[in-house]
This record gives sequence, C-alpha cells and structure tokens, in this order.
Amino acid sequence: MGEQYEIRRFTPAAKDHPAYPEAVAWMRAVAFGFHDSRRSDERVDKGLEMQRADGRVMTGAYQTGPVADHALGAEVPVATFGTMTKTLNVGFGRLLDTRLVTAVTVRTSHRRRGLLRRMMAEELGLARQEGLAMAALTASEASIYGRFGFGVATSEQSVKVDTSARFVVDHTPVGTVEVADPKVLLELAPVIFDRLHRQTPGSVGRHEFYRQFASGSVSRDDGDDPKVKVALHYGPDGDVDGYVSYKFGGWSSTPYTMEVVDLVAATRAAYLELWQYLGAIDLVERVTWDEAPVDDPLPWALRDPRCVNASDARDMLWLRILDVEKALGARRYSSDGVLVLRVRDPLGFAAGTFSLSVSGGEAAVQAAADGAEPDLALDVADLGSIYLGGVCPVTLATAGRITEHAPGAALTAKRMFAVERAPHCLTHF
Ligand SMILES: CC(C)(COP(=O)(O)OP(=O)(O)OC[C@H]1O[C@@H](n2cnc3c(N)ncnc32)[C@H](O)[C@@H]1OP(=O)(O)O)[C@@H](O)C(=O)NCCC(=O)NCCS
Repeated sequence: MGEQYEIRRFTPAAKDHPAYPEAVAWMRAVAFGFHDSRRSDERVDKGLEMQRADGRVMTGAYQTGPVADHALGAEVPVATFGTMTKTLNVGFGRLLDTRLVTAVTVRTSHRRRGLLRRMMAEELGLARQEGLAMAALTASEASIYGRFGFGVATSEQSVKVDTSARFVVDHTPVGTVEVADPKVLLELAPVIFDRLHRQTPGSVGRHEFYRQFASGSVSRDDGDDPKVKVALHYGPDGDVDGYVSYKFGGWSSTPYTMEVVDLVAATRAAYLELWQYLGAIDLVERVTWDEAPVDDPLPWALRDPRCVNASDARDMLWLRILDVEKALGARRYSSDGVLVLRVRDPLGFAAGTFSLSVSGGEAAVQAAADGAEPDLALDVADLGSIYLGGVCPVTLATAGRITEHAPGAALTAKRMFAVERAPHCLTHF
C-alpha cells in the first residue's frame, strides 16, 4: 500500500499562488466524500479563504501509480484529512490547545485499504510531537473512531419547542432583545462566542465558518442564505451578550416553525430572554433547535416544561488524549483524592499507569511507581469520555468498559472529574 499512495500535507495557498489548484482539488474531494452537490467556483474560493483564516492544514492521499483512463486524475486526493488547532474549555475556565480533526474522507473506490488508519496515526503522532495533549473530532458515524482512541465526551439533542400560548418562561427580563441586520454578526458573533467559550466546559473555539454562517453570509450548500434573521440580546449595561440566528421553515411547515441556526448566550439571562423572544414571534407556533444541550435549563425555566420535546440525543464531541500527564494536569478538579489509572492505548501515545493526586483542586500527575496497582483500568477512549465530566465513570464501569480494581474508585472519579456545569459543545467541525 505504501507504494500506491503518497500522503501530502499542505496549507491552502492564496488564490494567485501556483499551488491554488491543489487546494481546490482537495476541497472538491472533501465535498465529494460528504455527498455534497458540486459547489460554484466562488463558493470554493470562499471556503478556502475561511480555511486560510483558520490556519488549517490539509492532508491528502494521492495515487502514485497509473491512474485509470478517464477517471479523476492523480492530482485529486483519494483521501482527505483536515486539521486545525483551537482551544477546548476543560472546565473551571481553563482552556487547552487541542488538535481538531475534520474533513475525513476516503474515496469509495479506495476504501478499506488502511488509508484512514495511516493518516490518523501520522496526524496524531504529529500533534503529539508538537506538544499537544488532546485531539478532538465530531463523527458522522459512531463506529469509526473508538479504535483510534477517541471517546464521546459531550452530547447534544434536537428540541421542538411549542411556542403557542402555553409557552411561558418564568423569568423577569433584565435586558432587552432587538432585531438586527444579520451581517452585524460578522463582527459580533466571535466576541459573544468567546465569552460563552470561556465559561462553558466542553466548548471548542470556533472556526471562521461560524460567523459567516450565523450571519447568513454562507450556507452549507452554495452562496449566502437570505432566509437568515438575527436578534441580539442586550444586557442591563447595554452590552450585546447574546444572539440568535434563525430562519422561517416556510408556510408549508405545520405548525408554522422557526428554525434556530445558532444560539449563543453569554449569560443566563441572555439565554432565557432570547427564548422569550423566540417564543413571542407571531404567526409561529414551534421553534426547533438541533444543537440544544442535553442538560438544558430551558424546560426547568418554563411554566409548562412539556413545551420542550427533546429527541435524538447523540454524541457530539469526541476527545482523544495524546498525553495523559499533560491532559490530566491541565484540569482543575472538583474534589480532592488520589486515583491510580491504568490506561490502554492501541496507538501507544497514552499507554501507562498514572497517579492522579488532587489537592485543593489542583492536580499532580505522574507515572505510577513500578508495580503500583491501579484503582481503575480503562481504555484511552474512556478516559477521553470522562475527562470533561460529561460521561459518568460509574456508568462506564457498569457497561464493562472501565474495570474498578478498588471498590468505589469509579464514584471517586465521578466526583473528581465533575465540572462546574454540564459540558456542551456548540462548535461542529
Ligand atoms: C470512514 C472512512 C473515512 C474510512 O476510511 P478507510 O480508509 O476505508 O478506513 P481504513 O481502511 O483505514 O480502516 C480503518 C479501520 O476502521 C474500520 N472502519 C472504517 N470505516 C468504518 C465504518 N464506517 N464503520 C466501522 N468501521 C469502519 C475498518 O474496518 C478498519 O478496521 P481495522 O483497522 O480494525 O481493520 C471512509 O469510509 C469514508 O470516507 N466515509 C465517508 C465520510 C465519513 O464518514 N467521514 C467521517 C467524517 S467524521
């Protein structure tokens, strides 16, 4: 296989650069892998501009041998893998540099020849060499990434909210909401998101796409999205501290429905007051949101919690610990204690037995003494799952994924790894 494919890594070139076509071919290969319709040249240019703003690295697998007549040429990668580095909020306001993996595709005619495995192992190795302790991704299928040491760390769900007369949020507004030109989000969205990011465990720093998307400047398909509307929330001091970007589901939706495109609230009041605004939109009786937190305060703030119909709870952020000492040492803990963890890692990066000793919430992590008996034995994927406090170690022990060598150690881990509020990630990548 080694002779058949060459793996190349590059950053997207500027439009007037001779290497630009290489980046365009890579973008088109990704779109093909995700079954997107062929995008206009302008949309591809825009996509590449965004990729440059993110500092992305593109990796492609290229055929080195003869290519079949009439088939796509050797300049089009048969497999793609994209990376960028952003921060992950690991609880209690701490941010950890994390390698984000995205745009993973393998052309159907070249699948199951180890291309994903090869790119994944190389890319994770590079991230580790650069000193990063964590990698993350969001998965199209839940069966692919566990084998590479990724574990589900946060979930999300879809909600359909009945905003007819029953919808009453028990909250006296402290701020106001006003409608704005969606384009104001090009400037405001990153600032508001940054505030949310710094206070939300599980949050991942956003890429350029989001402010463009929330403002209707780009859509997932082609061109802009003229349907997008925007409302801003102003706090008591007049600062904009939240926004909702939304669009009408059309006159054929039953009941008439408004779809949330993006909802970012940097304060508790902003969240409830943006929902009050959504609930007050005339002619509409339902609001849907596909990225709602699984631990959502909204139903608890409603007079009739059954207005919220939540469904399709699903995995969202997957974490891959690359360096156990660094990743565990980066966190603050909610309870003191000592745990000896035996970590298995099929790719080797994180394997070993580690002692995590927490005092005053701060951790000391080191390789355990030779012959030390573990309290818990677990796969690196499971350590990624419990890392943000979003998955309960007791549940993983009950499922047979974590082995409890010291009785009660899973409960101790649950207490130690808890974070200040339920982790939630509003960034898909
Ligand atoms: C998922 C995908 C990238 C796999 O690529 P691939 O090159 O065929 O994978 P590899 O040959 O390297 O296989 C690696 C391992 O993963 C397994 N695997 C790959 N895809 C899988 C899937 N969809 N479900 C379950 N297992 C899968 C393989 O069986 C293999 O297992 P092994 O190493 O234990 O033998 C490819 O099928 C694809 O492009 N899918 C469509 C786009 C997509 O879903 N991308 C993921 C977005 S996050």
